[in-house]
Amino acid sequence: MSGRDINPVRFPDTMKAVVYREFGGPEVLHCEEVATPQAGPDEVLVKVLAVAIDYIQLHIRRGGSGRIGSARESSYGIAGPPYFPGGTACVEVAALGTNAKGVELGSRHLVGGLRPGSCVEWAVVDAKALQPRPDGRPGTTACPPSFTPEQVAAFGYAPVAYHTLKIAAGLKAGETVLLHAAAGGTGVLAIQLAKSFGARVLATAGSPEKLDLTRELGADLAINYRTDDFVAAVLEATSGRGVEVVWESVGGEVFTQSLNCMAEGGRMVSFGSNTFTGTGQVDFWPFWVKNLKLIGWGGSSNAEAHTPEIMEALIDLAQADRLRPVVRHVYPFGDASSAHRLIEERLSIGKVLLRP
Ligand SMILES: NC(=O)c1ccc[n+]([C@@H]2O[C@H](COP(=O)([O-])OP(=O)(O)OC[C@H]3O[C@@H](n4cnc5c(N)ncnc54)[C@H](OP(=O)(O)O)[C@@H]3O)[C@@H](O)[C@H]2O)c1
Repeated sequence: MSGRDINPVRFPDTMKAVVYREFGGPEVLHCEEVATPQAGPDEVLVKVLAVAIDYIQLHIRRGGSGRIGSARESSYGIAGPPYFPGGTACVEVAALGTNAKGVELGSRHLVGGLRPGSCVEWAVVDAKALQPRPDGRPGTTACPPSFTPEQVAAFGYAPVAYHTLKIAAGLKAGETVLLHAAAGGTGVLAIQLAKSFGARVLATAGSPEKLDLTRELGADLAINYRTDDFVAAVLEATSGRGVEVVWESVGGEVFTQSLNCMAEGGRMVSFGSNTFTGTGQVDFWPFWVKNLKLIGWGGSSNAEAHTPEIMEALIDLAQADRLRPVVRHVYPFGDASSAHRLIEERLSIGKVLLRP
């Protein structure tokens, strides 16, 4: 049975969607009319209000590296072509399947895993994913009430920042953390969270404007890692000792060089590779002589990051105005290629969003 059979609301037969049929550069993205999906008995139909672009979507659009974000990887749930890009979205419940109990029509949620994708006007999602907590406290898809849909979608990366720093890397008050790509969509949240945990933050970013933002958000030191020697800057800032934690999603040389600015017993959490390099040679010497730990983060870590307890802690911080996403770039679906291009050219600051 479909959502439209159950509710006396008419939904259009077709909708706008961002799709691509071949792998390649940003130009392969198009906005097309496709069939509006129908919710099954255990599903709900949602109206998509805003979608945050995750860097992994760029890898997938290129066809993956065979290892990172490969569109052929079933774990990304991508069947096609046509391919429908994913991403964390702010949605509103529009219709319920017959068995979709407990979900309120019109309620707003922060959710991924939408079918057929996230950059669509209407999407279907498993009703179980949207279940509220019985005690009325924020659940895994809760949104900060005062946020706009774009801020909600961008806030969707706060659980990643929280879990990578606090749980995976075990960042503690008084420690120093090196955050790379700190003016990115996830980085801006990581700065604020690391400060809220009582850590000292050394932030890298690739332009003066980005460095200003990292300072504004609380970074104790901002380093331009495209023009300056970040290893020297970090060693100077830590009196030669190095940092306890490195938060790493850039890969390549940034990964390799980061090993040289870690303190004895330091932990590095690696959760992405914006340089698109998932392979390469790693010098194990620093691991042996400094007892370093490398923590990989991804896959099931995402589920561990999206617990009601973590969401509640993050929403409390947001409501206290101690955690805010940075939203400077919002594009209509029809201009999705410009949005991807902006990120790829390293010109984006904070999260890049799409809206119907
Ligand atoms: N493992 C997981 O499950 C998971 C989940 C969510 C996110 N992630 C990862 O978290 C990281 C952050 O994600 P995000 O979506 O918030 O992205 P983002 O940080 O906003 O990414 C864009 C920024 O990355 C930096 N960058 C460094 N090298 C780059 C290169 N070669 N090309 C383009 N940009 C480069 C640029 O900043 P500068 O100019 O300042 O260098 C750019 O502005 C990504 O690696 C993403 O895949 C992983």
